Parts: sequence; structure tokens; C-alpha cells
Amino acid sequence: MKTSKGYALVTGSAKRIGRAIALDLANDGWNIVIHHYRSVKEARALAEEIENIGRKAICAPCDLENATEVKNYIDEIIRVAENLRVIVNSASMFESDALDPDETRHKLINVEAPRILSTRFAEKCSGNIVNILDGTPVAPNFTSYGKSKLALTEMTIEMAKAFAPRVRVNGLAPGPTLIHHRQSSKHFEDMVSRTSMKTAIPVEMITSAVRFLLENTAVTGQIIYVDNGYHLDIPRTRT
Ligand SMILES: NC(=O)c1ccc[n+]([C@@H]2O[C@H](COP(=O)([O-])OP(=O)(O)OC[C@H]3O[C@@H](n4cnc5c(N)ncnc54)[C@H](OP(=O)(O)O)[C@@H]3O)[C@@H](O)[C@H]2O)c1
Repeated sequence: MKTSKGYALVTGSAKRIGRAIALDLANDGWNIVIHHYRSVKEARALAEEIENIGRKAICAPCDLENATEVKNYIDEIIRVAENLRVIVNSASMFESDALDPDETRHKLINVEAPRILSTRFAEKCSGNIVNILDGTPVAPNFTSYGKSKLALTEMTIEMAKAFAPRVRVNGLAPGPTLIHHRQSSKHFEDMVSRTSMKTAIPVEMITSAVRFLLENTAVTGQIIYVDNGYHLDIPRTRT
């Protein structure tokens, strides 16, 4: 094993954007805690891939809807992952309002879980937290999701103030990047057409922005939009 920068925990990293972030960080010298829930096989496959590039990988499942599991999670991770220095809160619930009419599950998974994990991390460790937000939070039929991401955005700023100087906290707000199975292709393409660049965001732009936030020691309390300019469209379309 090569010398590492320490461990980075990436939530929801068995698949999709979280996976790309985990792999990119492993290539950049980090050992990785692969948080997952249902995607057990995919998490193991990623662990193997990370080990093949000479880094350590630990698969660590947790249901982020279960507050008791979440409360104990960081302590469990610290017992097995020496030198935990980073959390990337990327796991997310993205369901239509019909499936979460009282917004409870979106709040638990997208806001409460990152809050609990980050607070315990700041108590026990030093380093960096990156919250993956959403540059496109207001979408018809996904109001609960959108509200939860806006709450996480505000919380990012509050955490940056509260956890300094031991921990820097930043947010990264992607635009439309990977189509979701809960989304129609029309819904996704409509979002892409609202970006200034008229294209989906390459996942490499997200991973390089995470690295920037980890490396630049002068940046905390920032929200970076990696969204091909989608946020420029919001004031006009929301009024
Ligand atoms: N995709 C996009 O274009 C886009 C656009 C804007 C913002 N974002 C943000 O970028 C991040 C990654 O996006 P994504 O599309 O890759 O995410 P995703 O596929 O919707 O979800 C990522 C992971 O979250 C985990 N998760 C969901 N519910 C969970 C629970 N109860 N407990 C534990 N884990 C749970 C799942 O893990 P398991 O599979 O292991 O169960 C899932 O694989 C998210 O925060 C999202 O809001 C994405």
C-alpha cells in the first residue's frame, strides 16, 4: 500500500456520482470509506477497484433514514479507519412528493443524516466536509427533495461557522449530471436546456471541484455551482 492522505468517507458511493467522487479521491491518494445502503455488490466491486490502485477501501453500510444507526456511524468508522479527514455527504433521496407527502424521509436522509455525521466528525476529527447540494432544487413534483437540498445549503454555511478552525465546510451544487430513474428523460432534458451551456454536466467536473475544495485551505463556507450556469436561469423562472 502507498502512503495515503488519510481516509475520506463518501456517502452513497457505491454508484453514480458518489462512486466517481470516491474513485477520483482514491486516485488522488486517499483511502476510502465506501458508505452504501442497498448497493452491497456495487460497493464491493468499487472496493476491489480502489484496492487495485493501491489504496485501502472499507465498505460501511448504514441506513441514513435510521437516526440511531446514523448517530453511531462515525464512531464505528473511526474504530476501523485510522485518520478520517474528510466526509463527502453525497447520498441522497430523490423521490417524487407523492412518495414522501410529509417530507419526513427527505429531511431525515438529505438533511438530518449529514448534520449528525458532520457534527460528530467535527467533534472527533479535523479536516473537511463537502456537502453535495443541488443547483436545480426547484422542480415540479420534487418539492420535498428541493426543500431538503435548500435546507442543507443553509446548514452548510452554519456548519462552516460552527466547525472552524478545525474543519472547513463547503457545498457543491451540481446541475443536471446523470439522469435518475425517478426522472423522465423529458424532465432531465428540460433541465439541460435551461443551463447556459446546453449540455449535461460531465461527472469529472464534479470530482475535480471536490478535489479543489479539499485542497484549497482558504475556502470555507462556499457554495460552488458546478451546473453549466443553471443557477443563472433560476431568478427568471422562479418569479
Ligand atoms: N444526478 C444528478 O444529475 C444530480 C443533480 C444535482 C444534484 N445531485 C446530487 O448529487 C448527489 C449524488 O447524486 P446521484 O444522482 O448520484 O444520487 P442517487 O443515485 O440519487 O443516490 C446516491 C445514493 O444515495 C444512497 N441512499 C439513498 N437512500 C439512502 C438511505 N436511506 N440510506 C443510505 N443511503 C441511501 C443510495 O445508496 P445505495 O444504492 O447503497 O442504497 C444511492 O446509491 C446527490 O446528493 C444529489 O442530490 C445529483
